[in-house]
Amino acid sequence: MTSSFRKRLLDAATAPYRQAGHFAWHFARGKLGRDPVFFSLLADGAFPPRARIVDLGCGQGLLSNWLTAAGRLHAAGDWPPDWPAAPQLEAYRGIELMPNDVNRALPALPPGAVVEQGDIRDAPLGEVNVVVILDSLHYIEPAAQEAVLERARDALAPDGTLIMRVGDAAAGLPFLLCTWADRLITSVRGHRLGTLYCRPAAEWQRTLERLGFNVRPQAMDAGTPFANTLLLARLKA
Ligand SMILES: C[S@@+](CC[C@H](N)C(=O)[O-])C[C@H]1O[C@@H](n2cnc3c(N)ncnc32)[C@H](O)[C@@H]1O
Repeated sequence: MTSSFRKRLLDAATAPYRQAGHFAWHFARGKLGRDPVFFSLLADGAFPPRARIVDLGCGQGLLSNWLTAAGRLHAAGDWPPDWPAAPQLEAYRGIELMPNDVNRALPALPPGAVVEQGDIRDAPLGEVNVVVILDSLHYIEPAAQEAVLERARDALAPDGTLIMRVGDAAAGLPFLLCTWADRLITSVRGHRLGTLYCRPAAEWQRTLERLGFNVRPQAMDAGTPFANTLLLARLKA
């Protein structure tokens, strides 16, 4: 991937946030540009060719614009030759607790995408082939985490994919840095952070396997001081 492609994708994915205000646009630039997970999901072909997504704890819905921009660049032939084809975003529904984030998401959403204010502990998840949970499950209590994961599995079509990122509570100082950064970013976004319910990445993996997923863990913190793990989980046939 060249740096000019990187910039074109970032520009296309963040342009819609100009309509959502200064903060939303800068936040989108910072997060999509610096967090390795967004480029990696495309480079690794994490999504099925036609993705119907529910995004739990979606923040300002960055993933919807990221995949829409990727689809446009791919259709225009502007795509790294060593990457799999960009997924086609057939449906995107984000669920987000904080009204501030929902309000930043709404003016920027691509056609057909939806972001709803709700609590992932009880919001209906619908029927999808991808459930995304990026950095949002550790905000809720362990029993609720288990219940969300069970409902995520039940929402998935056969062969469905769960894409989940977690801080690895077994990682020592880099994990502590994750939690400090979480507190800082949460307060910059205008919220207060309560208790966090983190676990070692290996424990998350075991939980998903028990629920019927094949899991591929991948370090997802390149270029950052943090200890984040991406768990790419596919429902066993
Ligand atoms: C660290 S942010 C990640 C946002 C988004 N997944 C991303 O990668 O850009 C975690 C998000 O989860 C949301 N969240 C936390 N608890 C939630 C709940 N119970 N229901 C819905 N959203 C929740 C937070 O408000 C926050 O926007």
